[in-house]
Amino acid sequence: MSTDNAVSTDHAVSTDHAAPTGLAGTTDPITADRYRSAMRRYPAGVTIVTLAGADRPVGFTATSFASLSAQPPLISFNIAETSSSIDALRAADSLVVHFLGEHQQHLAQRFAADADQRFADRSLWSTLETGEPVLHGTPIWLRTRMYRLLPIGDHTLVIGLVTRVHDDVDGPVAAPLLYHDGAYHKPIRLH
Ligand SMILES: Cc1cc2nc3c(=O)[nH]c(=O)nc-3n(C[C@H](O)[C@H](O)[C@H](O)COP(=O)(O)O)c2cc1C
Repeated sequence: MSTDNAVSTDHAVSTDHAAPTGLAGTTDPITADRYRSAMRRYPAGVTIVTLAGADRPVGFTATSFASLSAQPPLISFNIAETSSSIDALRAADSLVVHFLGEHQQHLAQRFAADADQRFADRSLWSTLETGEPVLHGTPIWLRTRMYRLLPIGDHTLVIGLVTRVHDDVDGPVAAPLLYHDGAYHKPIRLH
């Protein structure tokens, strides 16, 4: 038996209840609640993804953003299959990912709430010449071309090829908005 098989057998069918103290339960099936409560403890930067829908702008708050590749320059994030944005996202050729600053918590909340209201305040955004909505006052945003859409579990992994980087070099370096344990935070530098 290969090492890989031995490992997977341990996880799949172990009935060993004599785990050392402190490790009890580590071979239990992982429930959705248990998974979610662990993920709450993982800190993330807050982004908003926007794109031009067929008849209206579309966008949502996302903390699943990740840098994926430098050559070619690729990023990724996940969108829930249940999201009201998913059909527009599947149809889109391009999108913008905004890295929010700590001054933009109100936008993070707006883009995670009622989808019909997200773009209702016309003073908060404008439209790029390429058609995507862009949110004012965002320290850094990336325009990406759609590169891959991979349905995985109850989400779709979206991979974007970065074609434009907007960096607010004239302004002071804004602290990023962070999300951890169900709340928004700003970072504190340790040295
Ligand atoms: C902090 C935070 C992070 C989120 N991250 C994601 C994400 O990465 N992917 C996603 O599909 N939805 C994410 N959501 C949920 C969406 O922003 C949105 O609320 C959800 O898709 C419901 O939108 P809908 O009513 O348009 O379907 C996040 C919400 C919050 C508050």
